[in-house]
Amino acid sequence: MKVITSVAGMKSLARHWKKEGKSIGFVPTMGYLHEGHLSLVRESKKRTDVTVVSIFVNPAQFGPQEDFKKYPRDLEKDSAYLEKGGVDCLFYPDAAEIYPPGYRTYVEVHGLQDRLCGKSRPGHFRGVVTVILKLFDIVGPDRAFFGAKDAQQVLIIEKMAADLDLGTEVVTCPLVRGPDGLALSSRNAYLSSEEKKAALVLSRSLRWAERAISAGERDAAKVIAGIRSLIEAEPLARVDYVEAVDPVDLDPVAEVRGDVLIALAVFIRSTRLIDNVRLHV
Ligand code: PAJ
Repeated sequence: MKVITSVAGMKSLARHWKKEGKSIGFVPTMGYLHEGHLSLVRESKKRTDVTVVSIFVNPAQFGPQEDFKKYPRDLEKDSAYLEKGGVDCLFYPDAAEIYPPGYRTYVEVHGLQDRLCGKSRPGHFRGVVTVILKLFDIVGPDRAFFGAKDAQQVLIIEKMAADLDLGTEVVTCPLVRGPDGLALSSRNAYLSSEEKKAALVLSRSLRWAERAISAGERDAAKVIAGIRSLIEAEPLARVDYVEAVDPVDLDPVAEVRGDVLIALAVFIRSTRLIDNVRLHV
């Protein structure tokens, strides 16, 4: 596996592969990798000739009070994991490579970026979209792979890629959970064992919602209230949001019909976790 830290080096390897007629798959990450990230790598390897993974904890997507500084990092473990996963190249730039002094250009996907997580994390998606556009330009992927765990993120990136005619196919891969139902996340590393137990309320409440809907419940307000009351019964948990939305424009729905995304964000003490389920009713 090649490890590249400079933008110029990454661009030149991508050019070389293109000349050889190889298709490039790309999995952008912030590292501290787990099975959810690896599922994206496996999909990329299935569908493209070479796979690039980036690890970059992107300062532009963290708010001033958020966890940029303490975000978990372990390059050695991550690169061993990627090597074993058969990744061709790890792109690991430092912040000054991506945002040199005087950097001023940002990209926004209006409307979508202000919904759900965008309400409680203003500026977050502007940071995500900006870094993804830059990374797409550097890596030149034919296909890029994202997880349904971050449903709003992949929707916004898809929209950006379409609006700007980037020519990169954005592929959404299924949400990967642990055996206990907890959605895998690098931020789970913050949780004590007591908090991990409390965090199970996220997936438990979504499973309850799925059952209620398959039993015939169609009133979105009732489904949301049911999820909220399950979460509120967990003393370590505090709801950030619970919403039932149209998965294309993220508008709230009153009725659970057709395609619906139920998404939530919950604080377990100071750790903010997200989860969602996509339903077709
Ligand atoms: P990160 O949280 O490291 O996630 C990288 C990719 O892995 C994202 O596409 C995310 O949706 C996916 N992923 C994370 N947990 C997953 C799970 N349990 N199941 C399936 N996929 C999962 O998301 C980011 O980084 C950043 O915002 C990034 C897109 C890299 C931009 O900085």
